[in-house]
Amino acid sequence: MRTLVRGGTVVTAVDTYEGDVWIDGEKIVAITLPGLPGAMSGREPERTIDARGKYVMPGGIDAHTHLDMPGSGTVSADDFESGTLAAAHGGTTTIVDFPTQTKGRSLREALDTWHAKAEGKTAIDHGFHMIVTDVNPSTLDEMGALVREGITSFKLFMAYPNVLYIDDGQIFRAMQRARDLGAMICMHAENGLALDVLVEQAIARGETAPKYHSITRPQIAEAEATHRALALAEMAGAPVYIVHLSASRALEQVVEARDRGLPAYAETCPQYLFCSIDDLDREGFEGAKYVCTPPLRPREMQDDLWRGLRTNDLQVVSTDHCPYCFKGQKDRGRDAFTKIPNGMPGIETRLLLLWDGGVRAGRISMNRFVEITSTAPAKIFGLFPRKGTIAPGADADLIVWDPDKELELSQANLHMRVDYSPYEGRVVKGAPTHVLSRGEVVIEHGKHVAKKGRGAFLRRDTVR
Ligand code: URP
Ligand code: ZN
Ligand code: ZN
Repeated sequence: MRTLVRGGTVVTAVDTYEGDVWIDGEKIVAITLPGLPGAMSGREPERTIDARGKYVMPGGIDAHTHLDMPGSGTVSADDFESGTLAAAHGGTTTIVDFPTQTKGRSLREALDTWHAKAEGKTAIDHGFHMIVTDVNPSTLDEMGALVREGITSFKLFMAYPNVLYIDDGQIFRAMQRARDLGAMICMHAENGLALDVLVEQAIARGETAPKYHSITRPQIAEAEATHRALALAEMAGAPVYIVHLSASRALEQVVEARDRGLPAYAETCPQYLFCSIDDLDREGFEGAKYVCTPPLRPREMQDDLWRGLRTNDLQVVSTDHCPYCFKGQKDRGRDAFTKIPNGMPGIETRLLLLWDGGVRAGRISMNRFVEITSTAPAKIFGLFPRKGTIAPGADADLIVWDPDKELELSQANLHMRVDYSPYEGRVVKGAPTHVLSRGEVVIEHGKHVAKKGRGAFLRRDTVR
């Protein structure tokens, strides 16, 4: 199918200009001045999308999702079908999800399990990072095989003792291996051993409400672990990407490392930019809807995160989409916040919130919006230039974005399979009219118009 996206304003991480985007099959083949007669003579488009008055941007890349993820005695509420469909509705055309190694089992088993979860289900393309919970000679060896299959990043946990946590020696060995393989280490940076003591003490005092989830996970625990992760990565000579950075003092650590020229990167998530500890203290048990880890912080920290995004101290905004329904999942923790499954929905609302609360609010430019939602994650995770930009030869993963379209972020208007929206009632301005994945229109004016399960697994390149 040959498609012409006509008359829009093309926005990439570096450019803004009027242009016609020509697509042949899955690829962008040319970008021409608007209406240039005969630009593709003999190759007339079979379909034309009128993008006049709209922006044409690379599809979003969400580098942090948890679909169909078992944990906390339950499973995250979106599977690969509902989650990727919701992502597409919000303008995201690629996700990178997290297979999780079961302690004592192989990475291969985890990967096979996640391939089976995703196979034939995805509306858009997906890649995988591998969560390593058991670093031993066999898994270190397996990391090489995975990298050759396009799994070029590994997530490690400094939190959740007895579940996902690994110690500094194991982290260091995995980092050395990643260095040798050209792979990226993604780090969940919180001092889990110390935090578990605070949690135990709070519960003993009868402090069981959702807000204690944040109070027992102070930012110093995130800053300390971030510092340690950066130091271990420096010792190992490996690149490191701090996931879901939530706190000002953790950001200071990243700034310090980057100022010294280290290959250190960090993402934050919309919930840390738009929600706060005040949400955890909502009436009744409503705060449970806002329990995620690291926790929501005092509202003042949001300014630091926005500044970090402007100055490139933070490179990416991804979602950490890990949805649990309020009824039947979150409400398991009515008697103790420790039983509330950790995570928030967001795969569909990331671009909507960042445009409205970032671009429209004057906090970031349109180009920076594209960079933090698409180009930077593509570059950091080995997908660029196939994904993350609009250029001849790139996959035609595009969004046509109407800056005047309004949408209320209510659960009823969204497609995530979760029974609440953290942003219920918030009206945003700016939303996609068309979402294309590899040249195929997936979403058209809010309707899913592509074949189910058309998405593909992405083998990612190494990162250096
Ligand atoms: O609360 C969160 N973030 N749940 C997902 C697991 C993680 O640590 O990313
Ligand atoms: Zn994490
Ligand atoms: Zn996560």
